[in-house]
Amino acid sequence: MSLAALSHPEQAVAIEVRGVSRTFTTAGADVPALRDVSLTVAEGEFVSLIGPSGCGKSTLLRMLAGLDQPDRGTVSVEGDKVAAPSLSRGILFQDHRLLPWLTVEQNVDLGLHKSGLTTQQRQQRVSDLIALVGLAGFERAFPYQLSGGMSQRAAIARSLAPQPRVLLLDEPLGALDSLTRSKLQTELLRIWKHERITMLMVTHDVEEAVFLSDRVVVMEPRPGRIADIVDIPLPKPRHRGDPAFVDIKLRLLTSLEVETDPPANIVEH
Ligand SMILES: Nc1ncnc2c1ncn2[C@@H]1O[C@H](COP(=O)(O)OP(=O)(O)OP(=O)(O)O)[C@@H](O)[C@H]1O
Ligand SMILES: [Mg+2]
Repeated sequence: MSLAALSHPEQAVAIEVRGVSRTFTTAGADVPALRDVSLTVAEGEFVSLIGPSGCGKSTLLRMLAGLDQPDRGTVSVEGDKVAAPSLSRGILFQDHRLLPWLTVEQNVDLGLHKSGLTTQQRQQRVSDLIALVGLAGFERAFPYQLSGGMSQRAAIARSLAPQPRVLLLDEPLGALDSLTRSKLQTELLRIWKHERITMLMVTHDVEEAVFLSDRVVVMEPRPGRIADIVDIPLPKPRHRGDPAFVDIKLRLLTSLEVETDPPANIVEH
């Protein structure tokens, strides 16, 4: 079992995953997705999860969001065992999942319906968030009128609306072209600093992980286990050409290559 300790022991714990295993049964066969995974993320930390396809990254995020439950072990956020979805935990997917019949501001406002804010406060929060993600002027646009990058900006604003303390990101920039992607990485960094929330992000892009993260967790192929945890002590914003940046990127790439043995066999019943 690998235990991902906090980089600074005095920091408060935001996310705690303890001894988590999960096996799915599909068409009579057992598919072990996660085996004995333990991970601790400090409040305000930015941690990335990388690993081969099918190693259980999304499964782990879904558990943290309260959308799935472990067979064994526990998943806690801010000291509370996760049993169901909560507005204190935002989740952002690769596809923006905006409601096509609502405008940008209406989509962002959706996250505020249980906020207890007055109409005026809600309008202010929506307009602040739209400005924060760089979409001022597009409040009344519908999703079909936005580019992929703009839609994902709107989705980020929507996920931040209920003021989550933890944001779970599952390949949030994975569908974007490389130019838009690196622009949004910088935006995500700015938002993380501004909002001071804990972020746990799944990505397949090692450079993205090094650019954004305080630590990177490398997972093994199915059944997913933690193979390595790499601290990134470089100050942010980081420069991709910086030799220390390149060294860490290479270390992660090597670590990923080592971890790409064929996945464990599916057990037929
Ligand atoms: N709801 C489900 N029912 C059955 N099997 C599932 C379910 N969710 C995930 N799995 C299986 O669990 C394993 C891990 O899936 P998961 O989606 O967590 O992988 P991942 O690491 O996010 O992969 P990718 O990088 O391709 O997104 C896979 O073998 C997948 O088929
Ligand atoms: Mg996934």
